[in-house]
Amino acid sequence: GKVGVLYGGRSAEREVSLMSGAGVLQALRNQGVDAHGFDTGLCSLSELAAEKFDRVFIALHGRYGEDGSLQGALEQLGIPYTGSGVMASAIAMDKVMTKRIWLSHGLPTPRFAAFDAQATPAEELHRTASELGLPLMLKAPHEGSTIGISKVNSAADLEAGFALCAKYDEVVLAEEFISGRELTVPVLGKGRTARALPIVEIRAPQGNYDYQNKYFSDDTQYLCPAPLDVELTQTIQALAVRAFNAVGCSGWARVDFMLRATDNAPYLLELNSSPGMTGHSLVPMSAKASGVSYEELCVEILRSAAL
Ligand code: DAL
Ligand code: MG
Repeated sequence: GKVGVLYGGRSAEREVSLMSGAGVLQALRNQGVDAHGFDTGLCSLSELAAEKFDRVFIALHGRYGEDGSLQGALEQLGIPYTGSGVMASAIAMDKVMTKRIWLSHGLPTPRFAAFDAQATPAEELHRTASELGLPLMLKAPHEGSTIGISKVNSAADLEAGFALCAKYDEVVLAEEFISGRELTVPVLGKGRTARALPIVEIRAPQGNYDYQNKYFSDDTQYLCPAPLDVELTQTIQALAVRAFNAVGCSGWARVDFMLRATDNAPYLLELNSSPGMTGHSLVPMSAKASGVSYEELCVEILRSAAL
């Protein structure tokens, strides 16, 4: 049947999605799929309906693509789509909600507080900072690709970091900083059949895996499979699957972790329900380490679009 690859969109991660979408489109075509690109940032929902796709591959990141709203529209139109459904997508797009769900399942995630971006007195922010300790992370909970994130090293930088988040989001997440190694784990499948792929360790220049270092720099080092002993590897992979299932994800996702330096305790940071598929992205890197090519990966994800 006719497959649509949805990319672009209107979020702050549009540029990333254009790269992911171009890669996925080419890969599916190479595998003989009748795939067509569709930019959801330039076209309307009625134009999408008029395409009469038999199913779609969602290669969108961020709001209006990864957050459940498009998934809801596709449900209404009766078009099967890759990845998680409405609720899991909405939860995963919200780092605060995701952490609350994980905590309710007894899964480890750094301590945090959530603030109203428009109406939080500076004293309240400073009080929380002294509870969580410095450095701490400030995050725009509905963004991706590190957009709006800052690491606050001193109390003097708190308000500027908060203001940056407030430019992107209505809520600001303040999170305990876990010093250690940065890891990520792709998960494929659903429920009991969900399985983790090899762990990727990210070593970014100055430990700063930001937008530039994610997509453009060649200075970021990736180790896959991450050099961890077998037992710790299995623990982290099992945790990734539990984190995926707790949120109710399906199809595919990527779970981001910090591994605390002092004791190798893994902490869940966030879950990406429509992860990057660019040339620098981590899900394809991990799949490759398990013997699955980029093209095979795209076809497997496409199969998750339940017909
Ligand atoms: N938000 C980006 C696309 C990722 O998680 O890969
Ligand atoms: Mg993310």
